[in-house]
Amino acid sequence: MLDSGLPDRAIRPAPFLKWAGGKWQLLGQYARFIPERYGTYHEPFLGGGAVFFHLLPQRARLSDINEELINCYEMVRNRVEDLIKALQGYPNDRETYYQVRALRPEDLSPLKRACRLIFLNKTCFNGLYRENSRGRFNTPFGYYRAPAICNPEGLRRASQALQGVELRVLSFTACIEQAEQGDFVYLDPPYYPVSATARFTAYTGRNFTEMDQEALREVVDALDRKGCAVMVSNSDTPLIRRLYRRYRIERVWAFRAISANGSRRGPISELVICNR
Ligand SMILES: C[S@@+](CC[C@H](N)C(=O)[O-])C[C@H]1O[C@@H](n2cnc3c(N)ncnc32)[C@H](O)[C@@H]1O
Repeated sequence: MLDSGLPDRAIRPAPFLKWAGGKWQLLGQYARFIPERYGTYHEPFLGGGAVFFHLLPQRARLSDINEELINCYEMVRNRVEDLIKALQGYPNDRETYYQVRALRPEDLSPLKRACRLIFLNKTCFNGLYRENSRGRFNTPFGYYRAPAICNPEGLRRASQALQGVELRVLSFTACIEQAEQGDFVYLDPPYYPVSATARFTAYTGRNFTEMDQEALREVVDALDRKGCAVMVSNSDTPLIRRLYRRYRIERVWAFRAISANGSRRGPISELVICNR
């Protein structure tokens, strides 16, 4: 650990994808909410997996509804050397970007699919995974001078951390059946929007609605009844405070892009909700 409370990216496993809502910057503030001991670690809204890579739990079940993402994690876990080799052939230019973006992932091998996602993630605007209503990746080219499309050491460290870890494409509700008493479940859903303009929940072709937030609270209740330790991240909004009013609710501070084009940034409060 560094003095800042953040782990050193140069030597420890770290997220290999840039993901909207990534929790890397918050890890120092999260330490006090993490139970000292737990059975299996569950992260049902995996995204970039910052908390998983920080905790490096002995047993873990990671899932996300995004099939491309989970396939990519599987390739990093199972075929990291093939992945590194394949990624080295990708140039950073606009023409290649739009050609790769136009490929239909379902027509590609799992390895090529993972390459496509990593390449688009490193070269697209803001590293923002976004899908249109037909479920197609639609972020424009990012025009970065020299993006690190392939970081062999980073991928190898992530691969090492993922050995023995269960990865599944699942909706978050599945964690009720999967988690057992004594397990730790960290839930980092698409945040409830602070305002209509700050809205970003389109990781997938479908928005995460108020009804989904309510369903998530029911999942938290069920996990609590089962005897799991539960931690949830969400926006500091009246709806979220109301939904979780019977739980411990604390504020943390994050730097997030607060305008649509990312040019205005400032510290904003977010919530951490825990059942112990
Ligand atoms: C806030 S991000 C997670 C960020 C992650 N914790 C990180 O540090 O990068 C939310 C994730 O939830 C996933 N997601 C959206 N709806 C979902 C659902 N119904 N079930 C499971 N995952 C879902 C998205 O694909 C996205 O990866």
